[in-house]
Amino acid sequence: MSQHYRIQFPPDNSEQLQQDEVFFTLVEDNHATRLRFHDYAEIYRRPGLYEQLFYERLRCNSPEKVAELLQGALDTVREPISELRVIDLGAGNGMMGEVLKRNGVARLVGVDLIPEARDAAYRDRSTVYDDYYVEDLTELASQTETELREWRFDCLTCVAALGFGDIPPRAFFNAMKLVRTDGWLAFNIKVSFLDHAEQTGFSKLVRELIFSKYLDIYHLELYRHRLSMEGTQLFYYGLVGRMTDSIPDDFLEQHGID
Ligand SMILES: C[S@@+](CC[C@H](N)C(=O)[O-])C[C@H]1O[C@@H](n2cnc3c(N)ncnc32)[C@H](O)[C@@H]1O
Repeated sequence: MSQHYRIQFPPDNSEQLQQDEVFFTLVEDNHATRLRFHDYAEIYRRPGLYEQLFYERLRCNSPEKVAELLQGALDTVREPISELRVIDLGAGNGMMGEVLKRNGVARLVGVDLIPEARDAAYRDRSTVYDDYYVEDLTELASQTETELREWRFDCLTCVAALGFGDIPPRAFFNAMKLVRTDGWLAFNIKVSFLDHAEQTGFSKLVRELIFSKYLDIYHLELYRHRLSMEGTQLFYYGLVGRMTDSIPDDFLEQHGID
């Protein structure tokens, strides 16, 4: 890692805040900047800050866990990962991509909403992605869609990027539609997304998918995603499934998901 940062956590208020509202203070050249966890552009601009914060200090291990579950599913059906053509949604600076690349996938294309993510991925993990699109998949231009389809994806990965104001259901759904009909989905979600009381669009989408005829679940595992700032354990589900049929274009509308 190129540099170590002076990161200061606040006295004791993060538990009352939503995960995307939590902030910390970064001290650089005696100048303090307050950043939220979701200030991705500011975080990615500083080489190694994302890794230091989430992976060293808060012990995130989601890319390894989701990749392990995906590998397990491929092993079940005796399919080699070396043939997998992956679209990595919410790719950020390439933490998931790095694991997939190490595991030997055939093609790997990143997609993220912000240019700072692609810049950081190319800066810090220049050999990981075959291509990287800065795109909002909720409004996919037909030219971009054509280009993306040329990759003939058979797997969608999405790690630490669903819920909490990150990737909306429509963008995830459109990414799914870029994957072959019998392709794989591998992602993680916070535990409450499987709870019927949770009414967010993404939570509904995951529940509808799990119980639909369009997805076979191979793995659904509860695991520790990372620590909170206070050191408490944040549990997520890792989910790997295989699509079984072409999902209707109006699936979201049918289920009142927006
Ligand atoms: C916590 S980071 C996860 C990055 C990486 N997958 C990892 O595991 O380290 C969430 C990423 O999702 C991206 N993101 C948020 N909304 C998005 C959207 N609508 N479309 C694509 N990416 C989005 C953010 O820019 C950010 O890079």
